[in-house]
Amino acid sequence: MSSEIKPACKLPRLLQGYQPRPCSIVSVGSYVPERVVTNADLETMVDTSDEWITSRTGIKERRLAAANEFTSDLAAKAAKRAMEKGGITGDQIDLIIVATITPDMLFPSTACLVQQKIGAGRCAAFDLEAACSGFIYGLEIAQQFIMSGTFKTVLVIGAEKLSTIIDWKDRNTCVLFGDGAGAAILQSRPDQHGLITSTLGADGGKAELLSMPAGGSRCPATAESLSSGLHYLRMDGKETFKSAVNAMVSAAQECLRRCGLDISEIKCVIPHQANLRIIDAVSDRLGAKPEQVFINLHRYGNTSAASVAIALDEAVSEGRVKRGDLILMVVFGAGLTWGAAVIEW
Ligand code: UT7
Repeated sequence: MSSEIKPACKLPRLLQGYQPRPCSIVSVGSYVPERVVTNADLETMVDTSDEWITSRTGIKERRLAAANEFTSDLAAKAAKRAMEKGGITGDQIDLIIVATITPDMLFPSTACLVQQKIGAGRCAAFDLEAACSGFIYGLEIAQQFIMSGTFKTVLVIGAEKLSTIIDWKDRNTCVLFGDGAGAAILQSRPDQHGLITSTLGADGGKAELLSMPAGGSRCPATAESLSSGLHYLRMDGKETFKSAVNAMVSAAQECLRRCGLDISEIKCVIPHQANLRIIDAVSDRLGAKPEQVFINLHRYGNTSAASVAIALDEAVSEGRVKRGDLILMVVFGAGLTWGAAVIEW
């Protein structure tokens, strides 16, 4: 095993003491449901306008899954695309991690259901709950399993059917979210790099800012919890916004500092796609130029754990990043949670 771990690090300025990581993102894939819901469609459902949604969020449309299409289906479709692109078969996968806040069921895990749907063997599988930050948490966990020598090939998926936890009568939230999934396959490959470093963090003191109050052990489903709308996502938008900008900027700066990188050396910044004003504020404070920043928010809205996973796949397929380019991913979500990662593609 030790003879395999000989990373050819391409970054000359990695900080002293930093351990390069012999682990590569082999391939990525994504899937969004067919049904498009535009801002004009929402105008017929709640008291809102395309003008308000566009100017306050940057979102123009989002995708919603069909009634018989579950988070595990979206996840499996994204995973199969990543497997096809990477030439990875189901029996090669040692671990499946699904980051989601909208699992098919509270248990068993959506990862177990995905295992069946993609024809993987009886590999390890579990769900990860770090809300919108889940995909980067997942990449780091995958990498740790690979670096320890426990697993060789890990499938990480961010997948959400947020439309099932949205109150479609609440204009404060229903205009913001969408459904979708993105996947990445990581493998032990000594000659290449995936994640160079990542920063993860959380602040449970602000848990109430963004949550779904009912459905867990604190407030199990009752007729009253249902009629009070406690099974819907709730958010203090303004406070979440401020926390998001601060946490994303700090996490991204910490990642860059650890690698000894300047933002100008990053080919593509992939931020969590929640609000264009958050993306602009974070980009400004990081000193990123508009052409460095990948945005697909206008087409999908906020897809939580799937957000940066879909964006990474699209950035790669649109040719925005090529092998060897540096990517900075930065996320923020309920928990509160946040994270950033520098990736050598
Ligand atoms: O993924 C996790 C991270 N999520 C986020 O980071 C989201 C963070 N928050 C946000 O993106 C923004 O706070 C929102 C987009 C949610 C809201 O934008 P805002 O500029 O903070 O608006 P606001 O909440 O201050 O609302 C301004 C006004 C209110 O009316 P009054 O009270 O001033 O009369 C709202 O009722 O806009 C009203 N409003 C709407 N009007 C038309 C709220 N939603 C809508 C709507 N259409 N959909």
